[in-house]
Amino acid sequence: MKGLILSGGTGTRLRPLTYTTTKQLVPVANRPILFYVIDQVVQAGIKDIGIIISPDTGQPVQDQVGDGSRWGVSITYIVQDKPAGLAHAVKTARPFLGDDPFLMFLGDNLIEGGVRTLAQGFAESGADAAILLKRVADPRRFGVAVLDERQQVVRLVEKPKDPPSDLALVGIYLFSPAIHEAIDAIKPSWRGELEITDAIQKLIETGHRVEARILDGWWLDTGKKDEILEANRVVLDAYAVQSIDGVVDEESVISGRVQIAKGAEVRRSTIRGPVVIGAGAVVIDSFIGPFTAVGEGSHLERVAVEHSVILEGCELRDIPRLEDSLLGRNVKVGSGDGRSNAFRLFVGDDSELKL
Ligand code: G1P
Repeated sequence: MKGLILSGGTGTRLRPLTYTTTKQLVPVANRPILFYVIDQVVQAGIKDIGIIISPDTGQPVQDQVGDGSRWGVSITYIVQDKPAGLAHAVKTARPFLGDDPFLMFLGDNLIEGGVRTLAQGFAESGADAAILLKRVADPRRFGVAVLDERQQVVRLVEKPKDPPSDLALVGIYLFSPAIHEAIDAIKPSWRGELEITDAIQKLIETGHRVEARILDGWWLDTGKKDEILEANRVVLDAYAVQSIDGVVDEESVISGRVQIAKGAEVRRSTIRGPVVIGAGAVVIDSFIGPFTAVGEGSHLERVAVEHSVILEGCELRDIPRLEDSLLGRNVKVGSGDGRSNAFRLFVGDDSELKL
């Protein structure tokens, strides 16, 4: 079985971060989301993985992920010339996929427990597709499935205005090569994309078996700021362990699951986990509260922060309370010069500030 990970797309809902990177490379707990996705694909026993990239943002993906040797697998990059839909991505990957069954995984999605059982079940089932579903409060943002009483999929619809169920399609799919013919038989949707949801519906209509499993654990779909914060919270909660490789002075208090990387320095500060602090970061006279990730080389002085993601190279000074925030690389936040109460800002396009 092959793996196909999608890491193209424009990431408009995560601007300005996505002007310089793809959404799949935004770190949660100081590690790109895409790395967790690769972990989960590898844990399913897959050794031959294709990654779909876009012409604009593909280079940083290749630079950071490399050839797969870090995971002991082979990674092939496939350029999708335009973001024309998930089924279009599969079409583009056809030479790589050949006639093998494959696992398709959207590179900004993560699920609790990984995909090993799902992949094994599919290999044994003889079905032509397997999908993963999750009950959600607002199914209109997703593909939605209708099941019969035997849990077989009878109908799928992409982003319905009037959802026929609350079962959303999680961005993880298993396919036999029958999917290629189904993709050839569909037309672009109202949003101009070749939808994988429509291709799976076509499989059903042409008498193929499509299985579904309902996911009980968490599902993270990290296309927006609050979803990144939520992913950071869940991933820190699930994976953080206490490991202190950096330097912590005697006046600091570290409690709970706090990871301090080599070369990081903490002075006269309180850190309450789960928290990760990246290599070379410096934290002075500060409080870092639960569910915070401080990126490599960032400098925090007289700052109180919690439930936030601070990427690499940031400089934060004299901030009495920062919460629920996502700061991109090399961001500087500080107090004014005391001459007036005015805020003085120099921020990029599409930034969002709540003062
Ligand atoms: C895509 C799929 C949709 C699925 C979702 C999961 O939506 O088309 O069926 O529910 O991923 O994240 P998109 O991210 O393209 O809006």
